[in-house]
Amino acid sequence: MPILFDEKQKIFKLDTKTSTYAILIYQENYLVHLYYGARLPDCNLKPLMYRGRFDSLSPYNPKVEDPLFSPDISPMEYSTNGAGDFRISAFSVQGAAGNTVTDLRYVSHKIYNGKPKLPGLPATFAKEGEAQTLELETLDAVTGVKVFLLYTVFENYGVMARSVRVENQGDSPVMLQRVYSACVDLPAMDYEMVHLYGRWNKENSLACHPLMHGIQSIRSKRGMTSANHNPFVALKSPHCSEESGEAYGFHLVYSGNFAIDIECDTREFSRLLLGINPEDFCWKLEPGEAFVSPEAILVYSQEGLGGMSRTLHKFYPEHLMRSEWAKKKRPLLINSWEAAYFNFDDDKLVEFAEKAKELGIELLVMDDGWFGNRNDDHRALGDWYVNEKKLKGGLSSLIKRVNDLGVQFGIWYEPEMINPDSDLYRAHPDWAIRAPGREHSLSRYQCVLDMTRQEVRDNIFRQMYDVISQNNIAYIKWDCNRHITEAASVALPPDRQGEFFHRYVLGVYDLMDRITTAFPHILLENCSSGGGRFDPGMLYYSPQIWASDNTDPIERLSIQFGASLCYPISSMGAHVSANPRAGLATKAAVAMCGTFGYELDPRKMTEEEKEAVKAQVAQYHRDYDLIRSGDFYRLVSPAENSFHCEWEFVSTDKREVLLTSVIMRQPPHNFYIQKLAGLDPDLYYRDEDTGEVYSGALLMHGGVNLSGENWPISRGDGHSLTKRFLALSRQP
Ligand code: GLA
Repeated sequence: MPILFDEKQKIFKLDTKTSTYAILIYQENYLVHLYYGARLPDCNLKPLMYRGRFDSLSPYNPKVEDPLFSPDISPMEYSTNGAGDFRISAFSVQGAAGNTVTDLRYVSHKIYNGKPKLPGLPATFAKEGEAQTLELETLDAVTGVKVFLLYTVFENYGVMARSVRVENQGDSPVMLQRVYSACVDLPAMDYEMVHLYGRWNKENSLACHPLMHGIQSIRSKRGMTSANHNPFVALKSPHCSEESGEAYGFHLVYSGNFAIDIECDTREFSRLLLGINPEDFCWKLEPGEAFVSPEAILVYSQEGLGGMSRTLHKFYPEHLMRSEWAKKKRPLLINSWEAAYFNFDDDKLVEFAEKAKELGIELLVMDDGWFGNRNDDHRALGDWYVNEKKLKGGLSSLIKRVNDLGVQFGIWYEPEMINPDSDLYRAHPDWAIRAPGREHSLSRYQCVLDMTRQEVRDNIFRQMYDVISQNNIAYIKWDCNRHITEAASVALPPDRQGEFFHRYVLGVYDLMDRITTAFPHILLENCSSGGGRFDPGMLYYSPQIWASDNTDPIERLSIQFGASLCYPISSMGAHVSANPRAGLATKAAVAMCGTFGYELDPRKMTEEEKEAVKAQVAQYHRDYDLIRSGDFYRLVSPAENSFHCEWEFVSTDKREVLLTSVIMRQPPHNFYIQKLAGLDPDLYYRDEDTGEVYSGALLMHGGVNLSGENWPISRGDGHSLTKRFLALSRQP
């Protein structure tokens, strides 16, 4: 059983195949955090609760008969505000008396098989026998607020999912000020914090720095997760490298304002919190009401950052991505955006489809510009009816022409947005988010719809439903191209305006749920000016997410390497475009490390380019399973090496290997040996290009010599090399 309760010691032990997590019910029903790290046998964990003597200024509870226990220094399982713990608190509630003192104590617990759903929120799921859950009931005696701490253990993956449910069982309304999804007190601060930051067109830059005393945090208050910070942090223990050492990963299944805060106190302990950003958050809970936090994913690896990433790569398609496309082979697509922008009509799209079909492409995506009066980005968002001046004969006729060529059809939406110049705005100006008495800021000439309101969601759902249900649509790109300002809802009373941002996210999830439930066979690709909402919440609905508007293959290296830290390769939208930075081969090699597709005008290709694309399409089919379900190794990262970048896929049976090397700029040396990873040292592998046979041990410890003519260095910047190795069935 992955979750054990030791009645005598009052210790919960939560085991995965690689990790142990332990909690103690201490005197006066304080919940004390004991341990999170490598898997332990059954043993006495209690000594881990002690973190030195506290000093005379530390508060203590006189009822606790232990001179070493103080909420100020002891590791607390879910920290609260104002009752002796001065570090950052995970939870704080303002009761009828107006103060925010909060003190949660253990009441009871349940251990059950399976994984509960989180109402209204995306969350991990499990089939019979795949997960077990611990639910700890805690109470703040003064307000009557109960907090249920949920821990689901996915034993086979080294992963735990955590969330909290708050119930107001008191007599008066309360205001929730902070409700983090998880709190983890670690007994050291010599970790490095690894996270992803960026901006539009430059997502997922990898940052890595030692923790410092005090509070450090990454946050969003933009209403969406944003490209600025991803809701993910890894903590690397000393000596942790890409393939060895201890790494913890913390990921929030949420698409709105988030916070991951780490406080290192002066005793050199670290507390990590992750959850909804408490800034601009306040939730009124009436007696009898409940509030559920988003889910936090915790992963522990002893195989470095690479091991941590591979766990998440395998875990998410099985337990988070609910689409039927999560594990199904996706159609190879071509998107119209960079090929035509707003400048297309039905005939041009049919020509795209015709040419694409000849290349072996399976699906045409009609991007922005097909609806209302949308001939540029100044107008028409909200008017989701077909522009028949552009698509003469209407959408059904266009789709029929495309389908008749043997090509499927996909369409673009930006459901949460409205342009002031739109019929929808003229009919419902109050549907655009705006604080009373203030003008709304514009961004890309548009405003955000108040998705907290049911009638707004109903209108957009109905408009989308009418188009989608009447047409043979196989794919939807769901875009979101601005952040929220002047946040307020006319539908909420003043004392509930603090709920706005979270209610917005719940509204978006509700609409996505309705669309994906009504059309379960449609492949949904998420997008937010590129990867601006690349988060696990979106992965729940859309198994692929456009990683960046930047299709320069060299820039894409760091964007995709960064995303691979915590997202499966199969989820990263990546296309070959007309970008001139590198040739077709390198563009394909990079896009192949993602969903793979095209975003260029197929009518403008030379015969030579067409032949090259046909060969790429064949390679895509040949390597599909290896790339989608193999193990991914970041060998040389563009964040660490400014000259070249290498990565590798290894099939789970270790018999197939795909190595890619890209030159970003000329290195000072022209000799290079790359050691491979994850092979079977006892197998022999044939280099499919040269026929040369190598032992697996040699490839891993000696490496493969990339020098000479083959290494793209001799051909200049932007060149690449892809090598396949196949294991021999018999030893030579
Ligand atoms: C965003 C997306 C692009 C494209 C445009 C259309 O920028 O990231 O891929 O869909 O919108 O306006």
